Amino acid sequence: MRIYLDYNATTPLDPRVREAMLEGFSQFGNPSSIHAEGREARALVDEARVRVARSLNCDHRQFAFTSGGTEANNLAILGSARANRSRGLHIVTTSIEHSAILNPCRQLEREGFNVTYVPPTSQGLIEVDTIRKAIRADTILISVMMANNEIGTIQPVREIAAAARERQVLFHTDAIQAYGKIPVDIGEIKPDLLSISAHKIYGPKGAGALYHAPHVEIEPLVRGGTHEQGLRAGTENVPAIHGFGVAAQILTSEGLPELMSLRTLLEKGLESTGVIILCRDALRLPNTINLYHPAWIGESMVMAFDLEGIAVSNGSACSAGIIEPSHVIQALGYNVDVSRSVIRVSFGKYTTEGEVRTFLRVVQQLERTGSGVSQ
Ligand SMILES: Cc1ncc(COP(=O)(O)O)c(C=O)c1O
Repeated sequence: MRIYLDYNATTPLDPRVREAMLEGFSQFGNPSSIHAEGREARALVDEARVRVARSLNCDHRQFAFTSGGTEANNLAILGSARANRSRGLHIVTTSIEHSAILNPCRQLEREGFNVTYVPPTSQGLIEVDTIRKAIRADTILISVMMANNEIGTIQPVREIAAAARERQVLFHTDAIQAYGKIPVDIGEIKPDLLSISAHKIYGPKGAGALYHAPHVEIEPLVRGGTHEQGLRAGTENVPAIHGFGVAAQILTSEGLPELMSLRTLLEKGLESTGVIILCRDALRLPNTINLYHPAWIGESMVMAFDLEGIAVSNGSACSAGIIEPSHVIQALGYNVDVSRSVIRVSFGKYTTEGEVRTFLRVVQQLERTGSGVSQ
């Protein structure tokens, strides 16, 4: 039996979501058509919008469905910056954002915008004061993620949103990793823009959404029809959106999964090993642990765990078989070797205590025997 400990990469589909999606596939009508088939498909999309909005405590009319979190982030960053260009050309973000924020920011730099990348503390925290100091007279947008996908640190987004409001600067938060793990309440955070993704909450891949407050101007990235309030043209992916809605409804009705006891069990178990947990004392997601072992530096421990039947992740991007050092770990002050060697363990609502204990046993075994993977 495999043990899946990579929930931050993606979550398994909840069986109830899968069931609902199958139903969505039989509603084949185009939601823009006015006949009965079209109306049935439209009803599924409308219902999903209400369900997603309820899970975040906000108005369902303020949501645009997208093809996922990456597109929601692109629409937020590129769309709001380009639409507000006449007000200023400066953007504030952080050096530990996901590439779905950093790369749109780099694109804006090529278009003549200036971007300030605020660094975290050594514990992975983005301080409100550092953000305040980065704001200039020509700042039009601040984007700070709610929780980091690699190290799990949770940022004070409510306070940052308030600081942005004081200076009449738009505030966006990438809540993709926070959603489904800690409360994400739009009424409380009061962001201007907020991104989420279905496949991090036991929903399907390829479905996401951007919340946009009524006053926010956004230039669409995809032009065509008037779908999604004119923000995102294209016939809606009805089964995926329906699945997203059901996943959100399950989240609302069942509440957040209790994951902290598993994290505590895992962290306590690691105390008797040589493993070092990054940002251990920081406010972190209840499901995420980023670790490294001084003896495992430079080795692909992810493969060693995989051979033992356990799926964990490199704390860093792995492309074309080459492990890139993580920009997040480097931003914390670690050297390239550590940044290349960190392992992310992330679990979710289907993880059992037994699986955590097996993981701990495998850590001890690998500590005794070495990685088992030739370099
Ligand atoms: C913080 C963060 N932002 C954005 C994304 C991208 O979301 P998606 O996979 O839905 O495109 C991810 C996915 O890992 C993420 O963790």
